[in-house]
Amino acid sequence: MKTSNHISFAWFITISMLCLLANSQLTTNFYSNSCPNLFALVRKQITNAIKTETRMAASLLRLHFHDCFVNGCDASILLDGADGEKFALPNNNSARGYEVVDSIKNAVESSCSGVVSCADILAIAARDSVLLSGGPRWDVLLGRRDGLVANQTGANVMLPGPFENVGNITLKFEAVGLNLTDVVSLSGAHTIGRASCATFANRLFNFSGTNAPDSTLLDPNMVSGLQNLCPVNGDSSQLTPLDWNSTDLFDSHYFQNLVKGRGVLESDQVLYSSDQAASTTRSIVELYSKNPKSFFSDFANSMVKMGNIQPLTGSAGEIRKNCRVVNS
Ligand code: HEM
Ligand SMILES: *[C@@H]1O[C@H](CO)[C@@H](O)[C@H](O)[C@H]1NC(C)=O
Ligand SMILES: *[C@@H]1O[C@H](CO)[C@@H](O)[C@H](O)[C@H]1NC(C)=O
Ligand SMILES: *[C@@H]1O[C@H](CO)[C@@H](O)[C@H](O)[C@H]1NC(C)=O
Ligand SMILES: *[C@@H]1O[C@H](CO)[C@@H](O)[C@H](O)[C@H]1NC(C)=O
Ligand SMILES: *[C@@H]1O[C@H](CO)[C@@H](O)[C@H](O)[C@H]1NC(C)=O
Ligand SMILES: *[C@@H]1O[C@H](CO)[C@@H](O)[C@H](O)[C@H]1NC(C)=O
Repeated sequence: MKTSNHISFAWFITISMLCLLANSQLTTNFYSNSCPNLFALVRKQITNAIKTETRMAASLLRLHFHDCFVNGCDASILLDGADGEKFALPNNNSARGYEVVDSIKNAVESSCSGVVSCADILAIAARDSVLLSGGPRWDVLLGRRDGLVANQTGANVMLPGPFENVGNITLKFEAVGLNLTDVVSLSGAHTIGRASCATFANRLFNFSGTNAPDSTLLDPNMVSGLQNLCPVNGDSSQLTPLDWNSTDLFDSHYFQNLVKGRGVLESDQVLYSSDQAASTTRSIVELYSKNPKSFFSDFANSMVKMGNIQPLTGSAGEIRKNCRVVNS
């Protein structure tokens, strides 16, 4: 009796572990035999791209985010075509870095043809971009396959926007299995990169019909600087750094900025200043502003979680030859 209990317990453990494995099919060594030079090939392309334009690190990080939130991390954002995600509201004239992804894919194809997915290239590119900008490193999980369809409506519905409040942003993260910690840590990506007037000009002159700038934008130097950059009826594609202290450095200034009322986007500043933040995100912003190490370690953890959103694995999807089109 006792022995048979032990045996069924052993089976229970074995089967539970197999189930766990089936649920987390991505692995760090997925290409170690089929494309042993993969990491070096990607690193070289990213290093060159960032040397040419520092901002590219930010743009590549954002591409992975905008890929994963729509139909999972399946490189659907890379598909060309008028009905693609590229032309959805959050991406049109804003998401960028597609040529760099092409150059990475070309380098990878010439070394190991038909093996590495575009979705995995986006995940490695995001990791390298953060690392080369001075941020944390993490082991990137691999084994995703590429999707067969883009989803423009999905991109419009699933991606958070700069005018949304904490509750709405949180709902969009929860819809893909991410929580409040992930909302705040991943928003810290705005420690690098740029935003256009179109995404924050509403805060500068007549915010919510108050005939005044957003009262949570506390830094007068930023108010006047941004007003000059984005005059009423001005060019809405003008850019400003998301982090005015250290534009291209991946550090914790983003959170120190929020505490001082120096967030560029409304969706940044509400994480600290809004009523909703008091019981949700504010304490996490305060923690990261004082403790850069906890930001770095939570950011790395959240990036792995984000990279695990609904990957296609096994024989689902395909390995695209060209990241812009599905194989014929
Ligand atoms: C929390 C909700 C978020 C909102 C509402 C949001 C919104 C935005 C907006 C409006 C811009 C400026 C786009 C433009 O003007 O062209 C931007 C830029 C950027 N976002 Fe976010 N974002 C969010 C979360 C994230 C996350 C989770 C990441 C990555 C992990 C990220 C990474 C970036 C980066 C790196 C840039 C700069 C891109 C560049 O310079 O090319 N954002 N975001
Ligand atoms: C994308 O932006 C261009 C202008 O750059 C505009 O002509 C086009 O209509 C936009 N596409 C969509 C789907 O909104
Ligand atoms: C597009 O995305 C929406 C929102 O996530 C989803 O409901 C829909 O099923 C997706 N459509 C396709 C074709 O994947
Ligand atoms: C939040 O989402 C609701 C439901 O979609 C919408 O009606 C409301 O306008 C949103 N509020 C903000 C500030 O985004
Ligand atoms: C979010 O999930 C992580 C695990 O991925 C966990 O450590 C963290 O405590 C969670 N945060 C909240 C606010 O539930
Ligand atoms: C400010 O916005 C409100 C509400 O949208 C509007 O009624 C008012 O005319 C605006 N003021 C100016 C000076 O444009
Ligand atoms: C950020 O920049 C402002 C204005 O230049 C400065 O007062 C502040 O000390 C800086 N903060 C950090 C953390 O470097």
